[in-house]
Amino acid sequence: MHWSIAVLMLWQFTGMGLRLVLGRTPLVGFFVGWHQPVGTVLFLLIVIRVIWALVNRRHRPDHGAGFWGIAARLGHLALYLVMVIVPVSALLRAYGGERVFAPFGFEVFPAQQPPIDWMVTIGEALHGELAWLLLALIAGHVIMVGVHEGMWRDGTLARMAGRRRAGL
Ligand code: HEM
Repeated sequence: MHWSIAVLMLWQFTGMGLRLVLGRTPLVGFFVGWHQPVGTVLFLLIVIRVIWALVNRRHRPDHGAGFWGIAARLGHLALYLVMVIVPVSALLRAYGGERVFAPFGFEVFPAQQPPIDWMVTIGEALHGELAWLLLALIAGHVIMVGVHEGMWRDGTLARMAGRRRAGL
């Protein structure tokens, strides 16, 4: 679950990053063309991930006390919150918009005539901005894995990869 979300996030940010740098090119068009379907799959995976985390909340690794424990707790909370709001805001805009929303060719939301302005406005205001904030949070998440591995050597990456620490 974690790594499939990571790969699809990488896809989304690569495409939108290229769009920012290169503008309209055939390569960017390819990525942008897949943005909504991949984003919709990501949304479904994120929902399952959040439900999974809630169901298992009593069995999750302890973040510990002190500054780093609080920072880890807050960092994960922010990551989860923004990870949910980013696709939800885009889907809200898609629902309220005047174009049919049909990821993978299946109509999910019909065209709204007239568009539902408040949904489109919220989507416009939140999706792009919060998506870049999400990228910053993901960067922080990756840097902290580096700190766990390089400085604290506590086997965090092995746990994230689904392997248990030797001797546990
Ligand atoms: C977690 C999933 C998603 C991520 C990480 C993501 C990320 C991004 C990023 C970084 C941008 C560029 C913003 C900018 O240029 O400043 C963007 C734009 C866009 N996204 Fe997503 N997106 C996701 C899901 C979705 C979904 C589900 C949809 C459609 C329902 C969608 C539709 C769009 C559209 C239409 C744009 C271009 C307009 C805009 O900038 O708001 N995205 N997205």
